[in-house]
Amino acid sequence: MTHDISDEPQVSLLGLGDMGTAFAHAWLTAGYPLTVWNRTPARAEPLAARGAVVAATASEAVAAGRLVVTCLLDDASVDQVLGDTVLAGRDLCDLTTSTPGQARARAEWARERGARFVSGGVMAVPPMIGVPDSGGHVLYSGSREAFDEHVDTLSVAAEAVFTGEDPGLADLNDMALLSAMNGMFAGAAHAYALVRHEDVSLEDFGERLAGWLVAMASTVPGTARQLESGDYTTGVVSNLSMQVRANRALLRTAEEQGVSTELLAPYTHLLERRLAQGHGDEDGAGVVDLLRAPRRDQTSTVPPQRQ
Ligand SMILES: NC(=O)c1ccc[n+]([C@@H]2O[C@H](COP(=O)([O-])OP(=O)(O)OC[C@H]3O[C@@H](n4cnc5c(N)ncnc54)[C@H](OP(=O)(O)O)[C@@H]3O)[C@@H](O)[C@H]2O)c1
Repeated sequence: MTHDISDEPQVSLLGLGDMGTAFAHAWLTAGYPLTVWNRTPARAEPLAARGAVVAATASEAVAAGRLVVTCLLDDASVDQVLGDTVLAGRDLCDLTTSTPGQARARAEWARERGARFVSGGVMAVPPMIGVPDSGGHVLYSGSREAFDEHVDTLSVAAEAVFTGEDPGLADLNDMALLSAMNGMFAGAAHAYALVRHEDVSLEDFGERLAGWLVAMASTVPGTARQLESGDYTTGVVSNLSMQVRANRALLRTAEEQGVSTELLAPYTHLLERRLAQGHGDEDGAGVVDLLRAPRRDQTSTVPPQRQ
């Protein structure tokens, strides 16, 4: 594909919420020529003061840069913002949180308009952006050629990790990591509820909890090895029969403490089901198989999309 504008690392960024603004500051700090657009123009003013060009319309922003980055609320807002723009000859990098299916559809949508497409999943919070070694990174997928061409520009904001040419892969990884994070936060909320009104220093407990979660996180790659091999019983040190007993104690403790079991119960029920299938000598890997084969009576829990 030929590009009709300068080869300078010119960036056009649409979406100046907390995350988009953090990316904008990183590029400005690194001296990249930057054009920005935001639905609410006032959010562009501090960036204009630092040298960003403020486009009056989304079309103007898209026209200004070969690399067009969107960082909007959701996939529907990307439609609304880019709907009337001319994307031919541009490389669209969408950092907006999307589902894998939305990213694949967006890649096809961009291809039909003559643009190469890269989807990004931001694994960071805004203060990590533009800060070397912050641990923040962005997962990318889609056009390898477009990624390679812009990797230096993208890396200014955060480490850029390419996950594959299937455009949905970055978002799939992103969603999987966030889902696991949700489980951690749900567990932490339950733990705080248990100790909240007891003679426990919440500050000390918070430190203890963080240390425990970090220690237990080291066991997560072991599950990957079991799933790869299909052998869920070798090297098991916390067998399922024992875990189910312990989980019943967790539920009883919640009841004793007057704390709802609604966060704990779903996982506990899955462990019970796997044990009932005769897998007491495994640890938790078998739950993954249960989740891949949902029960027939299960209906969607995804709320309908608001337009
Ligand atoms: N913040 C985080 O910690 C974080 C971390 C990882 C990933 N992300 C992802 O990054 C993306 C942006 O997040 P954020 O934190 O920057 O969100 P935010 O602060 O709420 O900003 C949302 C942005 O989307 C724009 N927008 C929303 N609906 C729009 C519409 N219909 N038309 C045009 N513009 C619209 C807003 O414009 P206005 O200013 O006009 O409202 C604003 O620029 C999201 O997909 C989010 O999931 C965020």
